[in-house]
Amino acid sequence: AKAEIGVIGLGVMGANLALNIADNGYHVAVYNRTTSRTDEFAASAGELADRVTACATLEEFVAAIKPPRPVIIMVKAGAPVDEQIAALQPLLEANDIIIDAGNANFRDTMRRFTDLEGSGLTFIGMGVSGGEEGARHGPSIMVGGAEAAWKRVEPVLTAISAKYEGEACAAWLGENGAGHFVKTIHNGIEYADMQMIAEVYGVMRDHLGMDAPSIAAVFSAWSTGPLDSYLIDITAEVLKVSDVVSNRPIVDIIVDAAGQKGTGRWAVIESQMMGVPATAIEAAVAARSLSAMRAERKNAQVRFGLPPQQARREGQQVIDDLEKALLAGKVAAYAQGFAVMTAASAEFDWKLPMATTARIWRAGCIIRSRFLDEIATAFTDTPDVANLAMTPAFSKIIEETDGSLRRIVSESVLNGLPVPALASAVSYFDTYRRERGTANLIQAQRDFFGAHGFERFDADGAHHGPWGGEQG
Ligand code: 6PG
Repeated sequence: AKAEIGVIGLGVMGANLALNIADNGYHVAVYNRTTSRTDEFAASAGELADRVTACATLEEFVAAIKPPRPVIIMVKAGAPVDEQIAALQPLLEANDIIIDAGNANFRDTMRRFTDLEGSGLTFIGMGVSGGEEGARHGPSIMVGGAEAAWKRVEPVLTAISAKYEGEACAAWLGENGAGHFVKTIHNGIEYADMQMIAEVYGVMRDHLGMDAPSIAAVFSAWSTGPLDSYLIDITAEVLKVSDVVSNRPIVDIIVDAAGQKGTGRWAVIESQMMGVPATAIEAAVAARSLSAMRAERKNAQVRFGLPPQQARREGQQVIDDLEKALLAGKVAAYAQGFAVMTAASAEFDWKLPMATTARIWRAGCIIRSRFLDEIATAFTDTPDVANLAMTPAFSKIIEETDGSLRRIVSESVLNGLPVPALASAVSYFDTYRRERGTANLIQAQRDFFGAHGFERFDADGAHHGPWGGEQG
């Protein structure tokens, strides 16, 4: 046995992760259920081939790795992971580490931890972000599990991870499901980021009448400012590309129905379970679902048409407002995502390090950006803050962008342009910052129909209203 680590599952992510590991000087054993894929992979390893042991059977694979073995599983999330663990378990020995690197639901990860307890095997649930390119040249790595297990795999995971100004974007975030939970929130934020970018694209396309190359130029310009991020960069890139068949911008012939594999939805479900609103993420997930209802949307447009255009402003002033609106929306989405993590951290006793999380998202992952460096600094300076919006740096950003967000959202609403995530951001701020809300009325209603009781400003304890009859 000479391999220092193993990778099971040679799909796009697994194959690239294995090459990345080999590229960093480690000897890696690989296995895929379909042997032809393993052969294909071995043939494609090129100059890295001498650090790759391709195995046709799981037995061969386990024998090829030096104990105690770290084994990365990169297969489709869900049942395939359980099947793989079940197949591996009888072959592995005490102290071997199984690392699930897929997009697992953290609740599955928690269950797998419990299932493997007492088996002698160690489990790590590891979130990996960055797509194909990231897996090959440096992803962001979010680790959950026993800290001692992390210590054993830290060198290799640090080596293969992305680097932000030399700092590795890999970290241990907490016990059991912590890593996969953080990855889920990462993906929820990813959805919100993408949705809000799509919303401002919609304003430029449908309100300002701009074509794809002109919109690309705007995103390119923004990529040198506060919005500087991977998602803004690739947005500019894709808007520039022409279709080879029709010669039209490729975005103009791509069907407007978004896919989703479920991680964004999990982020929303967990935020609701925690009682912490993540409205921007929720709006983004819902927007993907509505996008997929193409036939219904078509019928509705036939039935209702589009509202008449009004309140139209044009020119650079609107573009500048869009940039600031996007930044404001981003603050809401990230504030919400981090607030959900804070709540989950308490609920599951993880002690999630917020600044570290922001730090390992600065490079490698899909939401990487300059913005995350500012978040890392904000959480380092004020670690116990209740909400990102209340850190001095982000309060300032909100003040500077608030007017733009309001103008963009109201003009869009007046013109019938859907901006659900940006609109949710305005409502979130407006609700969050208003001391006197309207839930007094909800409490009165609840007490009226269900005698649920309410608190009074002028007296302690639970009270009922003089509603008359039984309730009074
Ligand atoms: C990443 C991505 C990656 C993937 C997800 C989301 O961080 O590298 O989030 O994990 O893109 O599967 O994809 P969907 O949009 O299909 O839900």
